[in-house]
Amino acid sequence: MLMGTFIFLCLFPSIILAAEASEINCPMINCSHEAPLIRFPFRLIDQQPQNCGYLGFNLFCKENTTTIHFSSYGDLIVNSISYETPKLNLLDPKNCVHEVFLNLNLSLTPFRYYNVLKKYTYLNCSSRLVSPSFLQIPCLSGTHHHVYTVESSLDVPDCCRLVKTIAIPFSYSPYLSDNSFGLGLTWDSPSEDSKEKTEQVRWFETALGKVLTISIIAVAMTTLISMEIYWFKKLDGRNSVENDLEFEMLLGDF
Ligand SMILES: *[C@@H]1O[C@H](CO)[C@@H](O)[C@H](O)[C@H]1NC(C)=O
Ligand SMILES: *[C@@H]1O[C@H](CO)[C@@H](O)[C@H](O)[C@H]1NC(C)=O
Ligand SMILES: *[C@@H]1O[C@H](CO)[C@@H](O)[C@H](O)[C@H]1NC(C)=O
Repeated sequence: MLMGTFIFLCLFPSIILAAEASEINCPMINCSHEAPLIRFPFRLIDQQPQNCGYLGFNLFCKENTTTIHFSSYGDLIVNSISYETPKLNLLDPKNCVHEVFLNLNLSLTPFRYYNVLKKYTYLNCSSRLVSPSFLQIPCLSGTHHHVYTVESSLDVPDCCRLVKTIAIPFSYSPYLSDNSFGLGLTWDSPSEDSKEKTEQVRWFETALGKVLTISIIAVAMTTLISMEIYWFKKLDGRNSVENDLEFEMLLGDF
């Protein structure tokens, strides 16, 4: 019984520590030394619990590179994250930002383009368009097909097929050779008020958790100790009865 109390007392600090661990479950984390720090509303999937981030803000590390997955396109590299002005700067691993613009559908994600959008039409032409105002997108074109972004009001030339008319941040320009140009996303951050409320709720939950843990431990310990006292007394009582009996037997022998 004493041993039980001893073990319990040894476990006591670790129980308290376990209760406090929930507070340090979401430390800032990154995929490598130089990689952007990941914190709320983002979450590093597989390494942080679900409640560390909002739904749809999952990031993962792919060969030490911060990566985000879009079902409409695939994986994009997260170059930097700005939490102050909500902005995610992305890079296309295939180096073809217009392939991203053409396919990325953000409608079922928490994100939208950071830049103002304008409607453009993607054309897929069997021969080159001769006007110097048309510049084909090299990474989407081949020897027998030439892809262009044109003003959506333009009539589709005979040798071309309309691929899609969509709102994108930039039409193709060879001067914007940086493959990340325009690939910035933003999200609606929860208002300061609701953030504060969330923090208050979190604090309250943690405090409540601690109080509950300590109360349970206190009750358990009190029960244990009173049980011990009861048993010791009983044992003591029985011992003295046994002694009395022995004494009487001894007397009887005489
Ligand atoms: C990732 O980083 C670790 C530690 O810095 C290094 O040992 C490892 O080789 C890196 N892996 C890749 C694929 O770069
Ligand atoms: C994006 O996806 C939504 C929902 O799946 C769909 O309704 C919409 O037409 C898509 N937009 C484009 C431009 O493909
Ligand atoms: C353009 O057309 C070619 C040949 O028809 C096709 O292989 C290619 O995928 C098309 N590209 C786009 C962006 O639609």
